[in-house]
Amino acid sequence: MEEALLDQTRLPRHVAVIMDGNGRWAQKQGLMRVRGHEKGTKSVRQTVETCAQLGIAYLTLYAFSTENWKRPKIEVDTLMKLLVSSLRKELPTLQKNGIKLQAVGSLHQLPEKAQRELTEVMELTRENTNMHLTLALSYGSREELTTAVKLIAQDVVTEKLAVEAIEESTINKYLFTRDLPDVDLLIRTSGEHRISNFLLWQIAYAELYFTNTLWPDFRKEDLLQAFKNYQDRERRFGKTSEQL
Ligand code: IPE
Ligand code: IPE
Ligand code: MG
Repeated sequence: MEEALLDQTRLPRHVAVIMDGNGRWAQKQGLMRVRGHEKGTKSVRQTVETCAQLGIAYLTLYAFSTENWKRPKIEVDTLMKLLVSSLRKELPTLQKNGIKLQAVGSLHQLPEKAQRELTEVMELTRENTNMHLTLALSYGSREELTTAVKLIAQDVVTEKLAVEAIEESTINKYLFTRDLPDVDLLIRTSGEHRISNFLLWQIAYAELYFTNTLWPDFRKEDLLQAFKNYQDRERRFGKTSEQL
């Protein structure tokens, strides 16, 4: 799949990725699950760089879900350590490509070291405008929606918000993703066909793309394939073909 075969004018504005299959990748070669997570960081770098170079405006990566806290402590600890070391290591890549880093999720639940590293990289890349890279960390869509409902209720009680004034756009403003546009293309690797509590509200009209490739094997070629597939679809948003 050649980059030249893509229509540069019809690329998705917001791409979201459920990076799945690290554990299975490792187990397949008789390695510990954590080796798969380590290997997966290379796929993250390639995906981030390719998206930035193609001019994708928003890239959101599902790195750790609220449910992932239930995994064995050794795996959770390794993932958190990997987050810290990757942030440190990838800072030059972010700067070189003009990428602004953001994060969504219950960030206060992350270990302090990870929070500090994250805050620092976000601060250092704050002025970058080429691409918005958002990491979903300790993220769960139901938790995000529950939080939003609480905040809205609070604002109604304190009369900052009138019930009649609540619109769809109001709800957007109370989500962790308030600064992001709707997702255009959602990619999930590893052959699982589910959403796993990721961006439920934000993917209402996203195109879904599933591939059997395990995340550590996901390369530029696979990403271009997903974009090509996206471009071969007709997004109708409820209308008929003739109306478009
Ligand atoms: C995705 O890979 C990474 C995280 C969820 C943190 P998995 O660790 O879920 O890998 P599989 O799905 O077990 O193969
Ligand atoms: C979803 O993958 C979360 C991330 C990729 C970070 P999981 O591997 O946790 O999802 P399930 O449990 O298979 O649905
Ligand atoms: Mg998984």
